Amino acid sequence: MYPFVFLIALCLGIASATIELDQSLDAQWIHWKATHGKQYGMNEGWRKAVWEKNKKMIEQHNREQSQGKHSFTMAMNGFGDMTNEEFRHMMNGLKIEKDEKGKMFKIPFFADIYVPVDRRQTPAVSPGRCASGWAFSATGALEGQMFRKTGKRVSLSVQNLLDCSWPQGNEGCNGGLMSNAFQYVKNNGGLDTEESYPYVARDGPCKYRPEHSAANVTAFENIPQQEEALMMAVANMGPISAAIDASLDTFRFYKDGIYYDPKCSSEDLNHGVLVVGYGFQGKESDNQKYWFVKNSWGADWGMDGYIKMAKDRDNHCGIATMASFPIV
Ligand SMILES: *[C@@H]1O[C@H](CO)[C@@H](O)[C@H](O)[C@H]1NC(C)=O
Repeated sequence: MYPFVFLIALCLGIASATIELDQSLDAQWIHWKATHGKQYGMNEGWRKAVWEKNKKMIEQHNREQSQGKHSFTMAMNGFGDMTNEEFRHMMNGLKIEKDEKGKMFKIPFFADIYVPVDRRQTPAVSPGRCASGWAFSATGALEGQMFRKTGKRVSLSVQNLLDCSWPQGNEGCNGGLMSNAFQYVKNNGGLDTEESYPYVARDGPCKYRPEHSAANVTAFENIPQQEEALMMAVANMGPISAAIDASLDTFRFYKDGIYYDPKCSSEDLNHGVLVVGYGFQGKESDNQKYWFVKNSWGADWGMDGYIKMAKDRDNHCGIATMASFPIV
């Protein structure tokens, strides 16, 4: 009897030494799991521990924010059960590399866990891990240019880009580049509508149908690597595709305010977004200028899916490093 009891006690002792769970958070954990459709097997304790750690980090940041130490707040979201290592690994599945021309980069675009914000609300899609940020960025910029040309708003197919732009060097749910996506539309002579070719967040065969095309691309332009040039482009052309460093926890859990993290890189770009505007808060003199940026991680993230990112602060997060737009 004794050895058996002792053994159990020992096991429990080890378990509680490795993972200390806060039972007062159980109800919140259950609610979070339900909200994000999460189910775990044996590793639930570990996942809860990661979630608790992230939750505490977010709360700590927000306490500091209320003391004036940060310009933005953070909030728990669907990424809450991942460690930063997992988050970075998911993002850095591909390495940034110069292409033959030495001009473009190979970008490991971010895994898209959510069905995105204000369109493509396809409940049938189970949340997959598809690095489609580059494709959302490209369709967003192309939709903007088509709107300028025709005055009509049409949602273009992200899935069409994921499935069909492999010959241009993209890799579907493993990542890609906006410029390769523009090149595809140009070569292909069209891009289908979202309605005819809906987003399913996983790789599949190319199902492009010319009769459902709603856009053309004749060329695309890379914007000089300066925030001033990016501003002129946004002002004159509309939404611009940009690549940024989105690998930090502060970005992962961004909620609102102007995002600035000294650790954000202007060279290690890993995520495609859409720069839709810019502005400033308070007095223009006290460094509160921002880029208004659309992300593709769902309305749950940031300000209804958008983020304000620090502007004119040394190309923060590389927003002007690799910006481009299509010509239609
Ligand atoms: C795209 O270009 C092709 C060839 O010029 C043309 O037939 C088609 O109508 C264009 N599509 C759109 C949506 O403008």
